[in-house]
Parts: sequence; structure tokens; C-alpha cells
Amino acid sequence: MAHPDRFLMAGVMGWPVMHSRSPKLHNYWLQKHGLAGVYVPLAVRIEGLQAALRALPALGFSGCNLTIPHKVEALKIIDRIDPLARRIGAANCIVVEQDGSLTGYNNDGWGYVENVLDRAPNWKADAGPIVVVGAGGGARAIVVSLLDRGAREIRLVNRTAARAEELAKHAGGPVSVVPWDDRAKALDGAAMLINTTSQGMVGQPALDLPLDRLTPKALVSDIVYTPLETPLLAAARLRGNPTVDGLGMLLHQARPAFRAWFGVLPDVTPDLRAMIEATL
Ligand SMILES: NC(=O)c1ccc[n+]([C@@H]2O[C@H](COP(=O)([O-])OP(=O)(O)OC[C@H]3O[C@@H](n4cnc5c(N)ncnc54)[C@H](OP(=O)(O)O)[C@@H]3O)[C@@H](O)[C@H]2O)c1
Repeated sequence: MAHPDRFLMAGVMGWPVMHSRSPKLHNYWLQKHGLAGVYVPLAVRIEGLQAALRALPALGFSGCNLTIPHKVEALKIIDRIDPLARRIGAANCIVVEQDGSLTGYNNDGWGYVENVLDRAPNWKADAGPIVVVGAGGGARAIVVSLLDRGAREIRLVNRTAARAEELAKHAGGPVSVVPWDDRAKALDGAAMLINTTSQGMVGQPALDLPLDRLTPKALVSDIVYTPLETPLLAAARLRGNPTVDGLGMLLHQARPAFRAWFGVLPDVTPDLRAMIEATL
């Protein structure tokens, strides 16, 4: 809500943090909705996380986003954890409550699903087997959200099998772990393929996954968004698969955070997307 006597404040806490596009995104919405306020990068090292989070109410912050390396560690510090964030095992959004206490949410999986629906409106989580490559923080949020949307079979492939086993156990439901060496075979009959690893990101090699066994109808998505079209998405597009890039996940996860802090649910518009795309 606009407060005539209050300057609205939120930010993104991380280390490193200056690469984050979140300040551009939230400041665009603050301006668009005529709200006096600012969203800033907060460069906080892990040893300073507790003091920084506890300072938010005193400084008048409505809350903050969390990025690497704070998403898991913050759960030990805050006062309340939303059930979804607890299931995911990480928080990406902190809300300062009226009494100054801190609640943690995780909007990453919601953002992922909203983006897929935005780009492929007929998409359904229960349309067929979904292959998820990777078992890090992004994968945790996405697997839980896919299960909540009714996914009937998730094939989880990760270079480090133990991490995939742990995620499958934690998430519960129809998640099976496929050995890394069998990743090409895991594509047999899949309705969707999701890359949640950092492979394909600028400075990293492409994801090592031949697509020969993937049906051309399967939806291929990547949560890496620098570059916008990763080598995986380019290869999928060339063989005729529909694709969804990772930028929209970043844009959509920010919407419920903005609403929780400032009382307005903002939209992801072509203007906003173009503005952020120009920074990639
Ligand atoms: N679009 C968005 O809004 C959004 C949100 C979150 C993350 N992301 C992006 O998603 C990527 C992953 O983020 P995260 O937070 O999930 O990271 P993370 O927790 O560090 O997990 C990294 C994942 O990548 C895998 N990996 C790393 N190097 C690999 C290699 N050489 N070969 C095969 N697999 C490899 C890891 O496998 P091991 O377990 O074997 O190490 C792990 O599964 C990053 O590029 C991040 O920027 C995007």
C-alpha cells in the first residue's frame, strides 16, 4: 500500500548479488504503480546473514529476496516458515510482519509453473512423464510444484546421484531417480524435459544430453536465462520441440513477493520482459 509517511523498501540479499536483475524488476513495478520506494541489492556474506535479516524491521524494510548462498541457511534464523517453503527446504522471500517477526516463503516453483502456463497455456503437469535434470535449489522448488500440479511421473537425473536420491525422498510422490549415464534413455516417452542445472549458462559448457530419443511434441524448458536461448533450447527448437526459456520464471516469482511487501499484485508485461531482456 502507498504510505504518505513511509518510503517503501525491499531488496535482494546475497553474495555475490550485483548480477541480480531483481532491483530493475521491482523498481520498474514501484514506479509503474506510483509507489514511493526502492528495491536495492544487499551484499551480505553468510556470516552476516542473521544480523542483516534481523535488521530489516528496524530499518523499515518490508522484506527481501534471498539468493545464493542464503536460501537454506535463512530457514534457521527466521520466525515462521510457510509450509511450501518448508517442503522445498529453502526460502527465496522474507516478509517482515507487523510485529517485526520474519516469515519465509518460496515462490520459485510457483514462478516456474506460471511462466510455463504463460508461454504454453495448454500445458498440463499430468500430460506424461517429466524429466528433470539437476537436483539443486532450483530443482527442489520445481519438483515440489510439479507434484502439487498433479505430475504423475517425474524422472530425476543428476550428476551426483545421492543429491537426486535425497530430493526424491524429501519431495515424496512419484519421483524416480535415473542414473546420470542413462539420461538419454530417460527421454523415452517423456512429455516434458526441464534443465535445472547450471549447464548452458554463459561461461559453462552446454548440457551434455542428446535429444534423439525425445518426441518432437515434448516441451523443453530451461531455467538458465543467460543466454536466453541456451544450447539445449536451440537444439530443441531446431528439431521442432516447443520451448520455454528461463527468464519468465524470474519475472513471475517476483509477483507474489511484491504483493506481500507492497500490497499490489503486479503483472509480467511485454514491456517489462523487454526491459530485462535488454540487460542480459
Ligand atoms: N530462472 C530463474 O528464476 C532461476 C531460479 C533459480 C536458479 N536459476 C538458474 O538455475 C541454475 C541452477 O541453480 P541452482 O540454484 O539450482 O544451483 P545449485 O543448487 O548449485 O545446483 C546446480 C545443479 O547443477 C548441476 N551441475 C553443475 N555442474 C554440472 C556439470 N558440469 N554437469 C552436470 N550437472 C552439473 C549440479 O549437479 P551436482 O549435484 O552433481 O553438483 C546441480 O544439480 C543456475 O544457472 C541458476 O542461475 C534460475
